Amino acid sequence: MTAADTMLEPRRVADSASVMTELVLPHHANVHGSVLGGTVLHWIDLAAAITSNRHSRRPVVTAAIDDMAFLAPILIGQLACIRARLTLVDHSSMEVRVDVESEDLLTGERRHTSTAYVTFVAIDPITRRPIRVPPLQLETDEERAEHARALERRKLRLDRRNAIKAERAAR
Ligand SMILES: CC(C)(COP(=O)(O)OP(=O)(O)OC[C@H]1O[C@@H](n2cnc3c(N)ncnc32)[C@H](O)[C@@H]1OP(=O)(O)O)[C@@H](O)C(=O)NCCC(=O)NCCS
Repeated sequence: MTAADTMLEPRRVADSASVMTELVLPHHANVHGSVLGGTVLHWIDLAAAITSNRHSRRPVVTAAIDDMAFLAPILIGQLACIRARLTLVDHSSMEVRVDVESEDLLTGERRHTSTAYVTFVAIDPITRRPIRVPPLQLETDEERAEHARALERRKLRLDRRNAIKAERAAR
């Protein structure tokens, strides 16, 4: 087996799942004393980048972030707990599900605040063109169910991308 073959051996969801914990400080906050939406997006992007990088062991770039909602504020002094795991791997693209929860350090109470689906693409470090990544090995019923939903999301996402491209080309 060559080194290139080893690079493309299937990898489990658990092999690349990541957890990030951030303490919300005043410089992360808006005028209401809770974390800025853009800061949460930054953390989501980073957690998804780490997971897709771990899976592919290749340079990765963000291709898309799906619609997302901020369901509850995360206040200064609370933790933002960010968990990322792969849901779908195609030829060069990877969909990562990122769940965000707040944790109150004094009471321990945790609340779900956001879920985002982020698509990363692995690129060749020299040509900067998309390159193949290892397949995803699904092990649990939950992973298989999430994968089935991810296939539907992928179709909607690519339809949207094609519609935007067609609209621009028609101008
Ligand atoms: C992402 C990027 C590399 C894709 O390149 P491209 O020339 O459009 O490549 P292709 O059309 O061949 O698509 C390559 C893969 O990306 C996926 N892809 C591209 N755009 C996508 C989008 N908007 N949403 C979801 N997937 C997308 C394709 O489905 C394909 O997946 P597959 O190989 O698993 O089948 C290119 O658009 C790019 O460099 N974008 C800028 C990335 C960036 O700067 N991000 C922010 C900073 S990291």
